Formats: sequence, C-alpha cells, structure tokens
Amino acid sequence: MHDEIQEILISEEEIQVKTKQLAEKITNDFDGKFPLAIGVLKGAMPFMSDLLKRVNTHIEMDFMDVSSYEGGMKSTGEVKIIKDLNTQVKDRDILIIEDIIDSGLTLSYLVDLFKYRQAKSITIVTLLDKPTGRKSDVKADLVGFEVPDAFVVGYGLDYEEKYRNLPYIGVLKPEIYS
Ligand code: XMP
Ligand code: MG
Repeated sequence: MHDEIQEILISEEEIQVKTKQLAEKITNDFDGKFPLAIGVLKGAMPFMSDLLKRVNTHIEMDFMDVSSYEGGMKSTGEVKIIKDLNTQVKDRDILIIEDIIDSGLTLSYLVDLFKYRQAKSITIVTLLDKPTGRKSDVKADLVGFEVPDAFVVGYGLDYEEKYRNLPYIGVLKPEIYS
C-alpha cells in the first residue's frame, strides 16, 4: 500500500505533535462546559480519536455521516445525511471535528443545520485545510495543517475507500487514479 504513495506530506509524528497542541487548546476553551464533540464520518475518525483522548475536560461524543462525494475526487456540492446524531443539539456547545475542509460545502451545511437546531455555540476543528478549494465562506476555528491543491489520502482520508488506515497524510501516485 505504501508504494502507491508518491509523497508523504505530513508525517505520523507531525500529526501527533499537532494533535496534542490542538487538544490543549480545546481543554482550555471548553473547561467546565461539557461540549458535544461531533465527528464527521468516516474521515475524521482517526483524528477524533487521537485528539479527544488528549482533551482533559468532560466531553460528550457523537457522529454524523454526510456525503458530498460519490466515491470520486470532486464534491458534488449536494450534501446528504447518511447518519444523523443521536443527541440533541439545542443549547449545547458544539465542537465539529473534520478531517479536511476543501470546498467548505459540507461544513457550511453542518453549521447551518446546527444553527437551525439552536446550538448555543459552534466551534470547528479540522486536521487539514485546503484553502484553494473553497466555494463557501466557512472558516475553521482550529486548523492542524494547510495543504496544497492536491488530492490527499491517509489518516482517515480515502480514495475509493482505500488508504484511510495510513498513519500519515500523503499524495497518491497519479497512475493510481488515472
Ligand atoms: P468539502 O469540499 O465539502 O469536503 O469541504 C468535505 C469532505 O470531502 C472530502 N475531501 C477529501 N478527501 N482527499 C480526500 O481523501 C482530499 O483531498 C479531499 N478533499 C475533500 C473529505 O471527506 C471532507 O470531509
Ligand atoms: Mg469528511
């Protein structure tokens, strides 16, 4: 599997160091608040796990599965709820956990949804930010790393459901998807 990767953009170590820093910030910001942390499946799963185990204050966890991609590499712009929350959002401090913000369409849909459901506050943490892809004006409060305009895989991110279990973020060899 590793020989299908052209370049490692962010190493396992760099991810772990950054995750620790983000977790400390979240611990300080939410101390005494009992936020609802919402992981966006499936991509955010490894990041959510590494992040939240280092957060040293009480948090509740839930998951949403939404899809704006049909297995390929481009956002369709249309967001579909595959799995909704089990938890009430009304009057809660929400922490959305994402793998990557590209077009921003998924996140702006989620932010609107949680506003409609009367969240008390909404904070966004994303491991990766790809600012060149943006089609909406949504912004993350906490960002791990900025990535260039390339399709990245690993640490939750997939190409046709593969590579999510890589411990680093990398770029695929072009022959894999062409
Ligand atoms: P948007 O465009 O709505 O993207 O901000 C949200 C979701 O799209 C996926 N995505 C990617 N997945 N490599 C991937 O494996 C990428 O470069 C990439 N860009 C976007 C991802 O699931 C994200 O949550
Ligand atoms: Mg995602």
